[in-house]
Amino acid sequence: MSKKFLVLCMAALMALTALAAGCGGTQKSSDEKVLKVGTNADFAPFEFQDENGKEYQGFDMDLIRAVGEEMGYKVEISNVNFDGLIPALEAGNIDVAVSGMTINDERKQKVLFSDPYYKSGLSIVVAKDNTAINKFEDLKGKKVAVQIGTTSAAEVNKIGGVEVKEFNSSADTFMELRAKGVDAVVNDRPVNDNYILKSGETNVKALPDLLTSEDYGIALSKQNGELQKKVNDALKKLHENGKYDEIFAKWFGTASK
Ligand code: ARG
Repeated sequence: MSKKFLVLCMAALMALTALAAGCGGTQKSSDEKVLKVGTNADFAPFEFQDENGKEYQGFDMDLIRAVGEEMGYKVEISNVNFDGLIPALEAGNIDVAVSGMTINDERKQKVLFSDPYYKSGLSIVVAKDNTAINKFEDLKGKKVAVQIGTTSAAEVNKIGGVEVKEFNSSADTFMELRAKGVDAVVNDRPVNDNYILKSGETNVKALPDLLTSEDYGIALSKQNGELQKKVNDALKKLHENGKYDEIFAKWFGTASK
């Protein structure tokens, strides 16, 4: 084969690859708009994957699908580490992060948030026979598991004198408690309650003491003010047409206030 022929072949191949890439990508058909959603799908009842590990389920997942539908976008969900969500937004790899993410000032420096869509707070889970820990103050001098990059991690570190062990997912924090590697777990209250209710684990209890009052919001890149407005309009519509209440009742049993 001549060198010239080889170079020609390579040029043709490169042109073909470029063409194929142009046809794929995010612009599927001429007017189909795609909303790339990032979540950390280990946070039931807000986001989790079904037994087969594929279908995304939970309150947040239903809500963002309804938001997407309202906006006329096709929703594509991907699973990202919780502490990787804001970097993924900043890098433009996802359009929105929907992950039980608490709106706070530190995050607002980096991302935009939608209007609040859920009120939450933090609670503690301990072994049923644990009588030493009854409230957040009692965590001093104890080993506590939290998820990396969460408000739980920040708040437990603030108490002072706590031996904090950080894990990649909230599921891992519960596993550590079961393995007796820690005395307590701190997570968002609905996630702790869901664990007590659904895991079949009978040797643990959630404590009534609540730390913080937190609002969840949908996070977007600072560059995406236009999309933020669309998301807020869609959320408003879902509140008006009863769809929000329907989704809320599906996951929490009671109507939202
Ligand atoms: N609400 C807490 C926070 O924003 C925890 C969220 C964790 N979410 C998750 N999908 N693991 O820091």
